Amino acid sequence: MPSSNRRLFVTSALPYANGEIHLGHLVEYIQTDVFARFQRLRGHQVVYICADDTHGTPIMLRAQAEGISPETLIDRVWQAHTKDFAGFGVAFDLYYSTHSPENRSLAEGIYLALREKGLIEIKTIAQMYDPVKSMFLPDRFIKGDCPKCGAKDQYGDSCEVCGATYAPTDLLNPISAVSGAKPETRESEHHFFRLSDPRCESFLQDWALDSGRLQPEAANKLREWLGVDEDGRSRLGDWDISRDAPYFGFEIPGAPGKYFYVWLDAPIGYYAGLQKWCEINGESFEEFTGPDSTVEQIHFIGKDILYFHTLFWPAMLHFGGFRSPSRVYAHGFLTVDGAKMSKSRGTFITARSYLDQGLNPEWLRYYFAGKLNGTMEDLDLNLNDFIARVNSDLVGKYVNIASRCAGFVRKRYQGQLLGDARDEGPSVHADLETQLVDAAEAIAQAYDQRDTARAVREVGLLMDAVNGYVDLHKPWDLAKQEGTEAQLHRILSTTLRCFARLTIFLKPILPTTAGRVETEVFGLASPLGWQDIQRPPLKGVGEFGHLLTRVDREAIDRLLEANRGSLQPTPA
Ligand code: 2FM
Ligand code: ZN
Repeated sequence: MPSSNRRLFVTSALPYANGEIHLGHLVEYIQTDVFARFQRLRGHQVVYICADDTHGTPIMLRAQAEGISPETLIDRVWQAHTKDFAGFGVAFDLYYSTHSPENRSLAEGIYLALREKGLIEIKTIAQMYDPVKSMFLPDRFIKGDCPKCGAKDQYGDSCEVCGATYAPTDLLNPISAVSGAKPETRESEHHFFRLSDPRCESFLQDWALDSGRLQPEAANKLREWLGVDEDGRSRLGDWDISRDAPYFGFEIPGAPGKYFYVWLDAPIGYYAGLQKWCEINGESFEEFTGPDSTVEQIHFIGKDILYFHTLFWPAMLHFGGFRSPSRVYAHGFLTVDGAKMSKSRGTFITARSYLDQGLNPEWLRYYFAGKLNGTMEDLDLNLNDFIARVNSDLVGKYVNIASRCAGFVRKRYQGQLLGDARDEGPSVHADLETQLVDAAEAIAQAYDQRDTARAVREVGLLMDAVNGYVDLHKPWDLAKQEGTEAQLHRILSTTLRCFARLTIFLKPILPTTAGRVETEVFGLASPLGWQDIQRPPLKGVGEFGHLLTRVDREAIDRLLEANRGSLQPTPA
């Protein structure tokens, strides 16, 4: 058992409310959910919050294109996202929206606190403007010829042909991707968060470096981003946090026609969701978020958004009067069969299509958990390896343990199980039970360090040990011999007791299967916890159907077919 109870506020990055959830997203939600479930299983308090990221130009334009209001669009997407996550067993304590009253008021409060501290500056900048749509254009909504290589039809920030990056004003023959009009350059006042202020630099140095809050790879990035240049100036630029109307978002207090940039209120959405959860559950938001909070605040993100979560967000919180994050954990990108997910190959697989094709979500949870090791390395979903691992480990090794023994117990012992073999003195049976109990701490440590690959490997070795024990004692042979009743009962009971322990080990990854083992296999009235690894409180075994079935290549091929070219391209 854990020595003291921890309190954890855990988040995954908020998905944009204009696209479908796909397997790339699921890497993160599954990683976070496994972590959250593990901590709950250990008896800690976990509040796992997520929400849709609803603001910004792409969502506004998408709603216009569909002829609906942004509110209608984000409501529809919220329903779909919620269903997809539930389908994969991702158990948020609350799934909220950044378009919420809590988020508006928190964003305003943080902005006003920053302004109060002299950390907001208003500067006039020149930007591309669409005279037909009467709106300023984000870089990705301007297209033209690359100023370096001349390639046609390139975005306003970078060239996909030669890789050059540039300002949208450098594009040759620019056009607005929204209306096709030739954009004009216009000036407008923008609000900047003065990250270049020495106070920010010094806070972030302490927060990020040698603090254990970040993975080593991430801390190294921060070392590049922080510090001063040859002229003694902060390397951090000021951050433009405003956008001009029309914009779907929150208007900045005291600045009519100016809106918070989506990336300002997105992370604040973590707090908005937490505040809502506190209100629903009668908990103190202040205890979680006040400057002296002892709650661990842990953000799971993809490595592409490290900048926002390790510079802007901690600084916003700190100077906004809140505590700052305890940990930011970044993961790598997903490839499928070694390549970037691709619509033409059908590997841009949506969560919905996976569920609709009848594939078991726990197969994917198991596969991802087996690959995630807590680093920022990319991970590959190799489809043949996926099939092999599910079939050999989950079905062949894990489920097989129960299927091999439970029938005998029902037929010959009225379904009754004996207690712990260790209570009967030293024996090979006691040794096996001891082996599983002794492995628990190492497995717990691996989960706690988000090295679920190691946890899965350790559990795999224990599955081998249990199967080896069954092979050695051959219950099917003993069952045919006279005078072996007691010995057979012992072997079957020890095997099933070890199966219960394996189930606890895998419970963060396979919550649905574990739930069925608890109720259908063992008929337990209350769920197993980590402490039950010592002496699983088992009485007997009942009738149960297939706990997990095998996956075959045809099902995977159908999945790829269903995703070939199916996703609508969404504006970046
Ligand atoms: O990159 C993204 O998909 C963003 N919607 C993530 C936001 S995370 C947080 F800051 F809200
Ligand atoms: Zn180019």
